[in-house]
Amino acid sequence: MNIGKIITDRRKSLGLTQQALAEKLNISFQAVSKWENGTSYPDVTILPMLATTLKVSIDSLLGYSLQSLTEYDKRYDMEGYYWGLSPNHLCYEIMRLKPPTTPYKVLDIGCGEGKDAVFLARNGYNVTAFDISEQGLSKARELADHCGVKIDFFKADIRDFRLEADFDIIFSSGVFHYIPQEQRKSVIDSLKIHTAANGINVINVFVRKPFIPLPPDIEEGEIAAGDWKSGELLTYYYDWLFRKNEERIFDCNSSGVPHKHCMDVIIAEKI
Ligand SMILES: C[S@@+](CC[C@H](N)C(=O)[O-])C[C@H]1O[C@@H](n2cnc3c(N)ncnc32)[C@H](O)[C@@H]1O
Repeated sequence: MNIGKIITDRRKSLGLTQQALAEKLNISFQAVSKWENGTSYPDVTILPMLATTLKVSIDSLLGYSLQSLTEYDKRYDMEGYYWGLSPNHLCYEIMRLKPPTTPYKVLDIGCGEGKDAVFLARNGYNVTAFDISEQGLSKARELADHCGVKIDFFKADIRDFRLEADFDIIFSSGVFHYIPQEQRKSVIDSLKIHTAANGINVINVFVRKPFIPLPPDIEEGEIAAGDWKSGELLTYYYDWLFRKNEERIFDCNSSGVPHKHCMDVIIAEKI
């Protein structure tokens, strides 16, 4: 996230000097200069006025909506729900291991159109969920409203997002294959640190097997991230207790061409 560069580009394209921008915001030009050279960030309280002055949304200022539509934005732009509305079977495992007798805090990473987040919220969990797809999030918010549950949905990219709060349950389905090899350890370490004592991480990831051909609709993001090796997910959780550790092969017909996937699934508990 390079806010400084975005501010510089927007300021220049509006023909403003650093001094002129500073005057509009009623701050010193040194403050603007520091943002632009990356030695400080604008305070959150000034973001609305800064975004208005630079004629961009706060999202754009923070570097989010500069991204083009994701593949999933296009997939989710349809009537109905691309992934249907039935919850992932792992949600039932969550309920078995951590029944919502207290409102456990759940984080759903890459929540898509929100079917699992909404299911868990309806069952009494306190759910936070994010995805990189604005289109998915907007459908997820609609679904939550329709079902009368409150969920903290927001847009973020797992590759550069770092948690600040702790969660009892961190859940992610069909997303980890987008994390590049070199970032996997730091992303997962952050999830582990922000899991409460006796909390669980419930994760699945596609893994490559030499005897299964590449899926016909494999995405660039997945190729760029590099293959996940069978068992690799497990290694990041070697110091936790495995409640589930499974590898399964299943048929898929996405893109209309029948093919197979291999997926590793873990439920690991922080003891
Ligand atoms: C296979 S879908 C799974 C959606 C949801 N978990 C479900 O099972 O219904 C993958 C999701 O990951 C999201 N995604 C892809 N890359 C991401 C990233 N870098 N950060 C956050 N979400 C991402 C996509 O937008 C998409 O919604």
